Amino acid sequence: MRSKLEEIRKNGREELEHAQSLEVLNDLRIKYLGKKGILTQVLRGMGALSPEERPLIGQLANQIKDELEKLMTAKSESLGREALRQKLAAETIDVTLPGRFFPLGHKHPLTLVLDEIKSIFTGMGFTVAEGPEVELDYYNFEALNLPKDHPARDMQDSFYITEEMLLRTHTSPVQVRVMQGMTPELPVKIIAPGKVYRRDDDATHSPMFHQVEGLLVDKRVTFADLKGTLLAFARQMFGEDRQIRLRPSYFPFTEPSAEVDISCFNCGGQGCKVCKNTGWLEILGSGMVHPKVLEMSGYDPEQVSGFAFGMGVERIAMLKYGIDDLRLLFDNDLRFIEQF
Ligand code: PHE
Repeated sequence: MRSKLEEIRKNGREELEHAQSLEVLNDLRIKYLGKKGILTQVLRGMGALSPEERPLIGQLANQIKDELEKLMTAKSESLGREALRQKLAAETIDVTLPGRFFPLGHKHPLTLVLDEIKSIFTGMGFTVAEGPEVELDYYNFEALNLPKDHPARDMQDSFYITEEMLLRTHTSPVQVRVMQGMTPELPVKIIAPGKVYRRDDDATHSPMFHQVEGLLVDKRVTFADLKGTLLAFARQMFGEDRQIRLRPSYFPFTEPSAEVDISCFNCGGQGCKVCKNTGWLEILGSGMVHPKVLEMSGYDPEQVSGFAFGMGVERIAMLKYGIDDLRLLFDNDLRFIEQF
């Protein structure tokens, strides 16, 4: 039995010595040390030995087992190192390979127009204010001089959430929120960009669209200030030789009120497809802040005055880029979006 064990030791050493891969090594582990391995089988025969011999043989068998295990561990480490070395040698990195291309997004045409509007007005000293899209009836209508039964509410057919709460139909409620938050401080000089909602849906109307509100309240603000501000805006936005035209209009929260047109930037006022042969493009509603609105927001209309305006961003984007269907702006068709 002793010689059998010595032979196993010898063969094991040799075979391990020659093992060239981790797979072969694993097979050897099973062959020698596995549950049905050679060593185990020899040890099974120990029952036939005399009591004196048994511990000696047992000791020898354990020694061989330890030795083979150690050899296997060492071999497996050196084989692993060798495999890694070969892999690294074969795998060269080509530093001249072009980098991977990550497609960069870019701004949506509406965002471009919004950014431009904001930058023009912040350039004139306006700051940007925001208000909630889910608005109280009080701010959206009541405090803007549109009491509950006012017929002008019909112009803005609305999405109500409760009787007192709705999706805001314009950005004008931000006027009230800002004034009420600031009174009696002056000047109030803000623009308020954001989403608004109305029950409209066709080629030039979408149930959700964007407006930019403007509000300036101070001592001695006049209609001339409104005109000058809007002219400066029109020229920066649509070109240095634009003219503006004010037509009398009506809004419950401004008095007097005016609809503002710019001379057509496409034809210069001669008449063309863009301006439907009128030479003018309507871009916003405006007026002098109604005394009642100032009063409800905590300012004394005898002491201060103000102007306000509200423009539709989609409309301006459509004019600027010659887009004929507003819904294209919200379809997210890359063939369209990528053109800007
Ligand atoms: N809120 C008005 C609208 O949506 C526009 C407007 C704003 C008019 C401010 C006058 C002053 O139609």
